[in-house]
This record gives sequence, C-alpha cells and structure tokens, in this order.
Amino acid sequence: MKIGFLQLRPQFGRVKENVRAAKSMLVGLTDATVVLPELFNTGYLFRNMEEVRDLAESATTGYTVTELKKVAVAQQLNLVFGIAEAKNKKYFNSSVLITSKGKIESYQKAHLFDREKLFFQPGTRSFNAYPVEGGKIGMMICFDWFFPEVSRVLALEGAQVICHPSNLVLPWCQDAMRTRSLENKVFTVTANRIGLEKRGNISLTFTGKSQIVTPKGEVLAQASERSESLKVVEVDLNEALDKTVTPNNDLFKDRKPALYKSILRKAG
Ligand code: ACM
Repeated sequence: MKIGFLQLRPQFGRVKENVRAAKSMLVGLTDATVVLPELFNTGYLFRNMEEVRDLAESATTGYTVTELKKVAVAQQLNLVFGIAEAKNKKYFNSSVLITSKGKIESYQKAHLFDREKLFFQPGTRSFNAYPVEGGKIGMMICFDWFFPEVSRVLALEGAQVICHPSNLVLPWCQDAMRTRSLENKVFTVTANRIGLEKRGNISLTFTGKSQIVTPKGEVLAQASERSESLKVVEVDLNEALDKTVTPNNDLFKDRKPALYKSILRKAG
C-alpha cells in the first residue's frame, strides 16, 4: 500500500479555498492512503464560539466531507483529514476517514490542547481501527501523541498504520512519534501544517516536518518546515502485523495488563 501525507498551509476561515487547494495537490494520485492536517479546512485559531459555529460541519454530510468523498472514490484513495465537527449542537475537533469505497468513519479528539478547550468538547468514543483495502487504519489527532495509551490502544485494536492529522506548535512530536511507532510496531503518518496564523493578538507558527515512520522507528520521509508538500511511499503493511522483538519476545504477548491497574484509575 502507498501511504503518505499532504502538508498544507490553510487560510483561516476559507473552507472552500482550503479544500480546493488540497484537491489540486491530490490530482493524479491514485491507490494510496493520504493524511491531511488537523482542522485543515478551517484553520486553527478560533477566537470565539460564533466562528466555531459558522465553520463547523457534519462529519458525514458536510461540504468538506462531500467534496473529498468524490476525490476518494474517483482516485481510489483513503483520505484522513481534520475538521471542526458540528453534531447535535456540540462541537468537536475531529478526524474523518473516507475510504476508497466511500465509507466514512470519524474520531473526535480526546485530548484537547490549550485553547481548544474553550471551543470543543473532548471526544468520548473509544479508539478504533477501521478496515480499508489492504490493512487497518487508526486515527489520533495532534496532542493525542502526548498520551501513549492512545497509540497503544489503536495498535491493540489492530491498526497497522496510525494516521495523525496535526497542527503542531511544540518541538517534540516528530521525535516522539518514532517511539510511538517502535513501541507499538506500527506505521505512523503525521500530517502537520505550516505557516504563521495570526488572529487578533494571538499568533502561532506551525512546525511542518510531516513524516512517515516504519514499525522499526525509521523515518521514511519527512517534509520541510516551510513548504506545502505531498509525499507518498510504498510500504508493506503486513510488517505491522509482526510484533516479535526477539525470538523470545512478542510485544503484545509479553504485556502484563494486571500490573497496569493505575492506568485505568480515574484521572484528575
Ligand atoms: C495540537 O494538539 N494541535 C497541538
């Protein structure tokens, strides 16, 4: 399977332009799984709930999903991308998977970062792996990387590639994702955005360096900090089914869940 990322520079609030830019960069690509950034269609720095309400959309029938579904089916792509989701008058920072067959799945970000807590509800659905042609895909969003339980659960659910739409502003994630890949023996694709976003007196610079990592923790491809780019590589997803570490160690069989009780203790 070909897996990869589309690193973009979204413009705040310009959903149609952002979707059009993504579609134009995907022209000619077929038979691949491609990850786009978190909130790629809206931009990141919301200033108030009114903006969230204006820009959020349904994760099944909204403009962005409808447009990208046409691309996924026509070009035989599995597309994973971040949107602001509106559902039952609640708002989520969500990731959508549209398979090459047009099936839609979504994940609502569980671990909200900083000011995201002002605007979005944390997701409460557990982490799942979804079948696509040739393997199983899991989704997590940006700051979820700080919680290693997320990628571990996705791997235990059978994800062979973890798709990771991101809007990274801290410097550690790209290195940490090599460990997330290695400790779970899965592929990871982190799709970050680039550019400076300035809204009122708040501004953020996003760090780019989107990357594809193997189950051995090797970086197969990495984008620059400053350019939009599409990068896709051919991988054998079956590599992620092999959890052996040495002839005497299997990553999953050697786990000792009975010793991990404090993980399930209520947080806070
Ligand atoms: C982040 O979760 N967008 C840093």
